[in-house]
Amino acid sequence: MASIISHSPQETFDFGAKIATQLRQGDVLALAGDLGAGKTHFVKGLARGLGIENEVTSPTFTLIHEYRGGRLPLYHIDCYRLESTQELAEIGLDEYLGADGVTAIEWADKFAELIPDDAKWIRFFARENDTREIEAAL
Ligand SMILES: Nc1ncnc2c1ncn2[C@@H]1O[C@H](COP(=O)(O)OP(=O)(O)O)[C@@H](O)[C@H]1O
Ligand SMILES: [Mg+2]
Repeated sequence: MASIISHSPQETFDFGAKIATQLRQGDVLALAGDLGAGKTHFVKGLARGLGIENEVTSPTFTLIHEYRGGRLPLYHIDCYRLESTQELAEIGLDEYLGADGVTAIEWADKFAELIPDDAKWIRFFARENDTREIEAAL
């Protein structure tokens, strides 16, 4: 368990960038935590750490974004607006999970039963002021 206290959005980004250096093809990161807890900032850091130059934006409306050009492709999924496991299946979750890159899933706890057993869970908690506690089972 690698838990950290982040004191700023930049620190959360940097933690993502650091985790990215340890990731391998096929890894799935299951991100859990309330709105504003820092999941998307963490994924922006992941992209940077993988060497992806494109700006990462929240896939809240499109559900999935793909980023290439880095050490590994990054698939960024956000389950916030999904209402059923069927919708998640329809966006092709299984194809991404079995693919050549790293998959980061925001709100993974909403559909925990679809998340592979070997996913790495990272939980975000907002604490006082701008601190965030980030618990990573890595
Ligand atoms: N330590 C911190 N880490 C991450 N975000 C923080 C932190 N402190 C404040 N924030 C703010 O909290 C919000 C986090 O947003 P975001 O990463 O989109 O969260 P989520 O994807 O979990 O909803 C941003 O507005 C960011 O500026
Ligand atoms: Mg988000």
